[in-house]
Amino acid sequence: MAQHIGKVLVVGAGQMGNGIAQVAAQAGLDVVLNDIKQEFVERGFANIRRNLQRSVEKGKLTQDHMETVLGHITLSTSLQDGHDCDMAIEAATENMEIKLGIFRQLDEMLPSHAILASNTSSLPITEIAAVTKRPEQVIGMHFMNPVPVMKLVEIIRGLATSDAVYETVYNLAVQMGKTAVEVNDFPGFVSNRVLMPMINEAIYCVYEGVATPEAIDDVMKLGMNHPMGPLTLADFIGLDTCLAIMEVLYEGFGDSKYRPCPLLRKYVKAGWLGRKTGRGFYTYA
Ligand SMILES: NC(=O)c1ccc[n+]([C@@H]2O[C@H](COP(=O)([O-])OP(=O)(O)OC[C@H]3O[C@@H](n4cnc5c(N)ncnc54)[C@H](O)[C@@H]3O)[C@@H](O)[C@H]2O)c1
Repeated sequence: MAQHIGKVLVVGAGQMGNGIAQVAAQAGLDVVLNDIKQEFVERGFANIRRNLQRSVEKGKLTQDHMETVLGHITLSTSLQDGHDCDMAIEAATENMEIKLGIFRQLDEMLPSHAILASNTSSLPITEIAAVTKRPEQVIGMHFMNPVPVMKLVEIIRGLATSDAVYETVYNLAVQMGKTAVEVNDFPGFVSNRVLMPMINEAIYCVYEGVATPEAIDDVMKLGMNHPMGPLTLADFIGLDTCLAIMEVLYEGFGDSKYRPCPLLRKYVKAGWLGRKTGRGFYTYA
């Protein structure tokens, strides 16, 4: 039977974590927003405030309601603060070692009934679940960026995920105003198995001098009716995240068609991670 989720711990207060925290608080949940440093959680919280303020200015939200939503969120730098949460949604850096470490701790610190979800873009849910003593309560809950705007949540069942946990997370996604789509646990799920090779191919077009980033984005926007070109989208997602996802596809399928473009590696090594660092395929003020 599906369970009620009243309080959720969001791990990672980066662009996805603060979006998830905002939407959860707007859905009436109590939220603990966690990151490794106080300045990171404060930056995440400031982003939420800025986002909600924009909604107030557009007349979509009252100032009072905004304060109520913000009042649902507490800030944390210790996973122990999840001790009374019904669920954790992990949105930390896309790196298996980091995620396994977090899930081991969540398993220790959260109550036995709590569901442990990951917002990973590509990493195997089954493998993450295996480091816990509750693999049937581990699931993928993959939001899209920006979380407050995008409707889709891919829900990924690990090998052991129970039907009751799936149903609970499905209901939660609906409560958060999202449309949930069920997907099985394979590298990149559906979204990034289809999207990321296209982005990688666009990067190869830059690498091989086929066209400029602007020209490639124009082709895809004007020719394919994509709202955003693939290189603008890559900068928006974060080039480190794009590379991590391509590595997962490449290793997971052992197929050379998923090899990450050397130019993508070079940009990540240079610290050109896209919008979040001010430079990627484009520069940002
Ligand atoms: N960027 C996207 O478009 C997108 C879309 C869907 C899913 N995702 C996934 O969401 C996750 C987060 O991505 P993001 O774009 O928000 O990255 P980000 O770099 O903006 O944020 C990651 C945050 O995790 C924090 N973190 C790292 N280790 C931690 C730990 N041990 N405990 C707590 N916090 C920790 C970092 O300090 C950082 O603030 C990744 O798994 C990514 O694949 C990203």
